[in-house]
Amino acid sequence: MTEPPIGEQSANASAKRVRERLAELATIGGEGGGGVTRLAYTEAEREAHRRFADWATLEGARCHVDPAGNTVAIFRDGAPYFLIGSHLDTVMHGGRYDGAAGVVAALEAASALSETRHGVRVVAFAAEEGARFGRPTIGSSLAAGVLNDLGLGALRDADGVTPAAAAAEVGLSPTETQPWLDSDVACFFELHIEQGRQLESGAARIGLVDAIAGSVRLQFELTGRADHSGATPMRMRADALAAASELVLAVEEIARRHRSTVATVGRVQVRPNSVTTIPGHVMLWVDLRDVDPDLQRRAARQVLETAMDITEARGLHMGSRVLSEQPPIVLPAWPRAILYDDCRARNLTYRVLSSGAGHDAAVVARRAPAAMLFIPCVDGVSHSPREQASPEDIALGAEVLCSALRRTDAIIASQ
Ligand code: GLV
Ligand code: MN
Ligand code: MN
Repeated sequence: MTEPPIGEQSANASAKRVRERLAELATIGGEGGGGVTRLAYTEAEREAHRRFADWATLEGARCHVDPAGNTVAIFRDGAPYFLIGSHLDTVMHGGRYDGAAGVVAALEAASALSETRHGVRVVAFAAEEGARFGRPTIGSSLAAGVLNDLGLGALRDADGVTPAAAAAEVGLSPTETQPWLDSDVACFFELHIEQGRQLESGAARIGLVDAIAGSVRLQFELTGRADHSGATPMRMRADALAAASELVLAVEEIARRHRSTVATVGRVQVRPNSVTTIPGHVMLWVDLRDVDPDLQRRAARQVLETAMDITEARGLHMGSRVLSEQPPIVLPAWPRAILYDDCRARNLTYRVLSSGAGHDAAVVARRAPAAMLFIPCVDGVSHSPREQASPEDIALGAEVLCSALRRTDAIIASQ
């Protein structure tokens, strides 16, 4: 058998490492059927961060964990520095690539980089998924100084646990975080699976992200009257679930009215949740997102107003809270231009697209230049055990990152 050329050999070795590391991470919080649950500020998330630090240390990096739980691996000292990475927590019954692919790819890129004038660091941000506390990107927001103690203290998980209490259980103290994402970061690069079908359907290998959608998370508490399901005439009911159902459909209808808005009711809690009792109490969570800040604000206001109208018409009491509000972010053009020059030089098909999902890059972009590179995922499925991406595509993305970093290093140094 003839040996593959040297460049191909190292690409194969990189894809093999990516495959093995992702498989190893998937055993942490791993579930039958290929799913992974590694919620924010749990022992499983911490274990994944320790594994990342072990790998980085073996490659010669020095690692530290900040009080918010973000793990930083310093591959090359110096400031300004390049920061590369993503997150290691997952949603409930999530997949093995969302976040993890970006961290593993960042390790590949950093260990292949040498002789840069800039410092080089890889980061695994903590608590990126909003799945546990309703608010996404907690780790990066604390590091950027865009989430304060008041905002953090208002959050709760499904059991009423605050992020600070959950973090304390695993040895962290997020309220002590000193923001560190600042002008020392020359540029942040995040590789991520696309979580959509544009790359697959357009047959492009790489996605270059120009904008990241913002999000508003709303919590509603509808209080009616729990009553006997047989003895209460229809006209005398205050059914909180019937009102909530109207609201669910209204949320869908409002999002459809706007060009770029998407909105989801992904969680409802019904009390007493009994076949023979009229539901007296419902908690309901809305996740509304847009790449257009005006549409995002307008749609969120319409949801709030509609909820008031529905509950008033049915004689129910309504409480509401804005759990988080993140603006859409337009990413700077220059790092993207460097990435697409690299794609062209390699004859790689690419596509410029916006991200409907939220990412740490959107938070870092509030403090430093940031760029995102997408690789395809099968059928666009994500936040599901069926999530799938190819280690070869991730390794290829890491190569593109690495050469873009090399060129960014040379360009900035020559200025
Ligand atoms: C992050 O995964 C998000 O929900 O956008
Ligand atoms: Mn993610
Ligand atoms: Mn996610």
